[in-house]
Amino acid sequence: MRIAILGFGSVGRGIARVIQEKDPGITVTGLADSRSGIMDPEGIDLPAALDRKEKKGLCGDRQVSPLNVVDGAEYDALVEVSPTRIDDGEPATTHIVHALSRGKHVVTSNKGPIALAHRRLHALAVSHGVQLRYEATVCGAIPVLHILQHDLLGNQVQALHGVMNGTCNFILTRMEDEGLTYDQALAEAREMGYAEADPTYDVKGIDAALKLVILANTVWDLGVTLDDVEITGIDLITPEAIRLACDRETTIRLIAEAIPEKGLLRVSPRIIPQGHPLLVEGTLNAVTLHTDLAGELTFIGKGAGSVETASAVIGDLLYLGEHHAGAH
Ligand SMILES: NC(=O)c1ccc[n+]([C@@H]2O[C@H](COP(=O)([O-])OP(=O)(O)OC[C@H]3O[C@@H](n4cnc5c(N)ncnc54)[C@H](OP(=O)(O)O)[C@@H]3O)[C@@H](O)[C@H]2O)c1
Repeated sequence: MRIAILGFGSVGRGIARVIQEKDPGITVTGLADSRSGIMDPEGIDLPAALDRKEKKGLCGDRQVSPLNVVDGAEYDALVEVSPTRIDDGEPATTHIVHALSRGKHVVTSNKGPIALAHRRLHALAVSHGVQLRYEATVCGAIPVLHILQHDLLGNQVQALHGVMNGTCNFILTRMEDEGLTYDQALAEAREMGYAEADPTYDVKGIDAALKLVILANTVWDLGVTLDDVEITGIDLITPEAIRLACDRETTIRLIAEAIPEKGLLRVSPRIIPQGHPLLVEGTLNAVTLHTDLAGELTFIGKGAGSVETASAVIGDLLYLGEHHAGAH
């Protein structure tokens, strides 16, 4: 399978490293970051591109734009791993529209286009006979979308609950374990690279809400947006609240939940008992699916990280190679 990768940051480089190390039958024929691009139908020299990026900050040639790569490179699947912009999902949505319109599959880790334009992009993919896959947008390395879309096909999914933001989970864990204040735990998360310089999307619950929107639209085709989610973040949680929860053998976690029967889509700090399946530590994610046949299933794993996210992207690509090899 030939792919073009847009975005050569943590995820893009993770994908390149995995391809280089594991040789899973994927050739990279197009590559772009924000300021440069490179195309080679025979396959780009990945070690050289990684080296160039590290030394010069560019993966290719300044004259080649990301859209040149989308429109001009020879590939079977576009891998869109540029930054998430939740206001308009651009320029990633445009990249994806161009690739689908060329009859190319798309695999993305970018929440913006999927949370904002899933129906339109899905319809475009169907009309061109190609696939749009986005496992990496939700819960990092946990293959929850694949499980929902394939392994649980005979089930009705009645509800889902999850810990979907590793940054918040890390902060809450540190507040509980060490008695830190929110600000101290956030500073530690930043130091360890678990929180962005501007952590607003994470700590205000917006990142988890985007994932909930993606899941709800995928599982139930609800056509919901961020505005339909009731969102409360963790930034007002005090050490006293955590201590009080501990005294009662409970703890606080940021839980995303969807129960369509009750019209409920919510992200909020919740008190959960010790021993609860969603009580994961540190940056882990967890998701529980409530189904009519399989009952309750909980999956736990790394919610972010270069190679962990690459795992989800590569999984989507190999699935396409196996089941939908006929893209133009
Ligand atoms: N990191 C994770 O663990 C993780 C997990 C799940 C999902 N995601 C999602 O995956 C995507 C990538 O995350 P990341 O952590 O790899 O981000 P990142 O480290 O900030 O890298 C983003 C890359 O995209 C490039 N870029 C920026 N604008 C672009 C454009 N218009 N066209 C093409 N490339 C462009 C950047 O170029 P420069 O190098 O020139 O700045 C950079 O190489 C995001 O949407 C993120 O939300 C990340």
